[in-house]
Amino acid sequence: MRSARAIAHSNIALVKYWGKRAAVAGQTDDLNLPAVGSLSMTLDSLRSETQVGPSPADVFTLNGEAIEGGMATKVFRHLDRIWTARGEKGARPPCAVDSINHLPTSAGLASSASGFAALTLAGAGALELEASTATLSALARRGSGSASRSLWGGFVRLDRGELADGSDCVARQLFPADYWDVRLLVVHTARGKKAVGSTAGMEESRATSPYFDAWVATSEADLAAGEAALAARDLATLGAVMEQSMFKMHACMLATRPPILYWNGVTLEVLRALWEARQAGIEGYGTSDAGPHVKVLCASETAPKLEALLRGVPGVLAVDTVRPGPDAQVEVSP
Ligand code: DP6
Repeated sequence: MRSARAIAHSNIALVKYWGKRAAVAGQTDDLNLPAVGSLSMTLDSLRSETQVGPSPADVFTLNGEAIEGGMATKVFRHLDRIWTARGEKGARPPCAVDSINHLPTSAGLASSASGFAALTLAGAGALELEASTATLSALARRGSGSASRSLWGGFVRLDRGELADGSDCVARQLFPADYWDVRLLVVHTARGKKAVGSTAGMEESRATSPYFDAWVATSEADLAAGEAALAARDLATLGAVMEQSMFKMHACMLATRPPILYWNGVTLEVLRALWEARQAGIEGYGTSDAGPHVKVLCASETAPKLEALLRGVPGVLAVDTVRPGPDAQVEVSP
């Protein structure tokens, strides 16, 4: 085994992923197969850096702090997947995993996308798995669906795929980071952690939301429209697709039993302020995930004006401006 260090950037979905495919009889749900495809933008300044190397026993540190149970269990289970992907039947060699999340503390952005993407690349490098990027993307997906999109920079599509083994459920880059000079404004509306984790929330939505089937049935059209708008660098069309995908996802969440409500009052005020700004000719489009923050896509030249405007919405704590980010990278040392 070798040592490997990887850097992967976080991403934000413009066309959303919410919900897993129902498990097929006899198949492990460890494949983490999404019910819908998704389309994302990789983010420049928000990244995870992970080192995997040989060790007398499995040890995991996150931001310099030793972690046991919970997150550590998920990390080592992910390394087991990588080891199994080599065709190995025996035990995996013990590993030291050191991970640092460079996400502004109040970012309100999940680190699971960048974290599992970096772990997949560093783990594959350290455990000497020779794999195509498609295989690595499928492996990252098993750690976290959004992680499969973080292997690439720029604008990325994760296809839903049809095969039961998930081998066609992989992400691919549509356009690199320098393709389009856009910005994402991260508008913070609360501090603290989300109430319902996305993995559990998705399962509850699939099982109980009467809107889940409609959400799934309309997703492919959103993906096609989003991809076409990206190809044309058509912000107004992409923005409309993006907002509708987000509202459909939250409608599906709200109709879950018990309801899943990630928003707060400020979330709604920010969305309203965006609509008003558009009417005044300041163009930005909103999205939000499993939390109360709003992320706004706009042209680079609009960003300063929109940032100032959104800082003025009562209850907004901070606004960060982020650019499209690069591909994930890995360095392997002997
Ligand atoms: C709302 O990728 O975190 O951010 O696959 O269960 O780990 P798991 O879920 P995760 O879900 C992301 C959900 C979302 C939308 C998105 O990023 O597409």
